[in-house]
Amino acid sequence: MPIVSICSHKGGVGKTSVVLGLAGAAMSRGLATLVVDLDPQGNASSILGPESPTASALDLFARPGSKALHDAVTACSWESGPGEVDVVVSDPMLIKYDAWKEIKSVTPRLAKSLEHSAGYDLVLIDCPPSLGTLAVEALAASHGALIVTEPTYFGVQGALRAADTYEEVKKHLNRKLKDLGVIVNRSKSTAEEHDYRARELAREFGKLVIKPIIPERIAIQQAEGSAIAIQKYGSAGSREVAHLFDTHLTKLLNRVR
Ligand SMILES: Nc1ncnc2c1ncn2[C@@H]1O[C@H](COP(=O)(O)OP(=O)(O)O)[C@@H](O)[C@H]1O
Ligand SMILES: [Mg+2]
Repeated sequence: MPIVSICSHKGGVGKTSVVLGLAGAAMSRGLATLVVDLDPQGNASSILGPESPTASALDLFARPGSKALHDAVTACSWESGPGEVDVVVSDPMLIKYDAWKEIKSVTPRLAKSLEHSAGYDLVLIDCPPSLGTLAVEALAASHGALIVTEPTYFGVQGALRAADTYEEVKKHLNRKLKDLGVIVNRSKSTAEEHDYRARELAREFGKLVIKPIIPERIAIQQAEGSAIAIQKYGSAGSREVAHLFDTHLTKLLNRVR
């Protein structure tokens, strides 16, 4: 049961979209996936979660353990199968666990809750765009770290900073943490600047860049706007992107095992 954190030190690069795309790909394969929304903004929760949740990721920090996890998990609103997606929704108050601390002084709490997530084929943690304690907690609880970025100057910076945090967490809190690589998202094929930054990412991360790059496609926004999995949206663009997420899921599962 691999636990994977999806992170970056940059908002808007597609972390949540990648989490949803991978969860949908896993669902299409018949796998059972748990999405843990650690971003206080709660974008993944607004798509997957119930309207009035009775528990949230906050409980995984407040009283770490199997009961907190059991109480916080809800079935997701995607009913399309054949697999299933469950969710632990976010809470705006998660921000109180995001204060900066020296990584080596963090006593992981989330890991104590997620160690009871046996039964899922995959757990995906959607991280906030910061690299504060929430992201450190996510990495400390994970088997693998996946960085998402876009081929822009700021995107490259966000990816490099996330890689530094990965190294620190691996050194001080979680020696078994694997580097699963970098997904490059929102690439515009007509933009020379994007080609230049994609080459820069290839120089910095080498084989860790997971191919193929995900292009800018409105289908991702349309599927999210309709709160359905991209795999079920049914447009040409959604089929193209769904195929990419399926390829990425295969690579991710191979790297984390
Ligand atoms: N490949 C893509 N093509 C078009 N829009 C995208 C793509 N990836 C993400 N988006 C859109 O960009 C916005 C930010 O993506 P999101 O997944 O919320 O990023 P993050 O979680 O990193 O902040 C969302 O509106 C999302 O629908
Ligand atoms: Mg997000």
